[in-house]
Amino acid sequence: MCGIVGYVGQRPAQDLLLAALQKLEYRGYDSAGIALVENKSLYLEKRAGKVSDLMRVLKASRATVGLGHTRWATHGPPTDQNAHPHCDCQKKIAVIHNGIIENYLPFKEELQARGHIFLSQTDSEVIAHLIEERYDGTNLLEAVREALRPLRGAYALAVVATDSPDEVIVARQGSPLVLGLGEHETFAASDIPALLAFTKTMVFLNDGELGVLRRDGVELCDFEGRRITRAPQRIEWDVVTAQKQGYKHFMLKEIHEQPHALANTLQNRYELATGKIVLPELQKLTEKIHKAQMVYCVAMGTAYYAALTAKYLWREFFRVPLAVELASEFRYSKPYLDENTLVIAISQSGETADTLGAVREARARGASVISIVNVVGATLTRESDATLYTHAGPEIGVASTKALLAQLAALDLLGFFIAQSRGWLAPEQTRPALESLVRGPALIEKLLQQEREIVRLAQVFYEKEHFLFLGRDLLYPIALEGALKLKEISYIHAEGYAAGELKHGPIALIDAEMPTVVLVTKESVYEKVFSNIEEVKARRGIVITVTDQINKEIERVSDFIIEIPPSSRWLAPLLFVVPLQLFAYHIADLRGTDIDQPRNLAKSVTVE
Ligand code: AGP
Repeated sequence: MCGIVGYVGQRPAQDLLLAALQKLEYRGYDSAGIALVENKSLYLEKRAGKVSDLMRVLKASRATVGLGHTRWATHGPPTDQNAHPHCDCQKKIAVIHNGIIENYLPFKEELQARGHIFLSQTDSEVIAHLIEERYDGTNLLEAVREALRPLRGAYALAVVATDSPDEVIVARQGSPLVLGLGEHETFAASDIPALLAFTKTMVFLNDGELGVLRRDGVELCDFEGRRITRAPQRIEWDVVTAQKQGYKHFMLKEIHEQPHALANTLQNRYELATGKIVLPELQKLTEKIHKAQMVYCVAMGTAYYAALTAKYLWREFFRVPLAVELASEFRYSKPYLDENTLVIAISQSGETADTLGAVREARARGASVISIVNVVGATLTRESDATLYTHAGPEIGVASTKALLAQLAALDLLGFFIAQSRGWLAPEQTRPALESLVRGPALIEKLLQQEREIVRLAQVFYEKEHFLFLGRDLLYPIALEGALKLKEISYIHAEGYAAGELKHGPIALIDAEMPTVVLVTKESVYEKVFSNIEEVKARRGIVITVTDQINKEIERVSDFIIEIPPSSRWLAPLLFVVPLQLFAYHIADLRGTDIDQPRNLAKSVTVE
């Protein structure tokens, strides 16, 4: 998954493109490049490495039209040649691309047979040569449209040409692309944060659409050439929100933003006095909700763990089957789908290819889809029947934190809403859970004040190479999330298990070197998890107990204790995850890894 940015206007394009690329580096950062159009010629520089590496080799330029790209390699290793932009043979056309062209190879072979020289191993370079064959120097949009027509796969791309020096052509199919409108300047980028410093007026392209960006605005059309009008949207995120605000990493800032993320996601969506849930965005689906005979939740990664938590909570009052599946497995698991099926798709970015694939399959077979998304205007929101936005604000750190808490809260609200719509849960029965949830922001603030203890714990364990995380019932998904947080930012091997699984294999791993984090709550199966702790202790394992139930026996069997304020079944998952996020963060910080841009990862996986 890569980051792309394009500009046409009156300002020097180079610095503007580089600034935008630095805000897109969380999407991919193994190589970077820019192309500038000036005096009917193309100035192009591209390097393996980060945007900061590229900046060191750039010459000054007054060009006011250009493209920028930061890459997460799919085809071909991260090298200078494989970095974007890619050019035609005459070096008059430059292309940047985010996505995968699945059928590029036969086209590459035909082009080579016709004498085209390829300089890279990428799929993307084919696009530049296909445009070259169709571009007569007059209508760049038409040439791009015709070049893309036979290609299959996903792309968000931007094109410039020296013979069309006052425009940037963009196209999207399956990868995100947002346009920005300024005063005598227009922008294109993969994501909103890249443009916030320049404009808050955005236009979202849909799949199958192209655009011509000029200084006086944008013109949109579809692949048949039919004109499209699209109202701009005003994005209220401010630049400061999308910056670090003094924190060492975006991830730490976003961990500390969780009280606000939770409060903002809950706000105006319930009536505490009556217990009624108020989700006007779902009103158009009430009939489908009433008829639903099967409910699926699909997601990937951290969002999947949020969905798993909902399973444990919703089944208490759901009177139809509820299944939670990894989106990447969903399509291949022969799911039962018809017009009486409801699919809930959860995704922070709204661009995860696996989740989009599951949703497209579900809708193709008649199911209705509700999505829970954090990014306004993301692809998933346009491929769902309704969207329940999490209002967590921009999440830049690759490791998801505040979005998870917002997803858990949104899932609580959604579960109550469905149950109330179906008469399975009366509003007054919902009140205790709501009263607990609204205490969440204050309790999370209290947990964040424990950070110093967590730092001390991280200092004890940061050199360990293996960890186990155990949880049962509604804390099992949180154990999985704790393991994911640790492994993805510290590169330590960490595994999450259902505590009941311990005796069925993982206990073989326990020895005096193996730290085991055990989540145990008074809200559920306390005795059983306590016996798991004793099993670990009996084999000299190191026990870090995370619990809302401190007592003599817990103190006896634990080497370290992280205390969680007592709460409720609804709130416990949100509280238990916070110290695990901090633990992973501070261990990674002590290990000196690239926390906001961990190796091999990207913020949103837009390829399957
Ligand atoms: C979580 O920390 C990871 N970054 C990853 O598992 C992520 O949750 C997953 O890729 C799903 O992303 P999405 O929520 O944007 O769909």
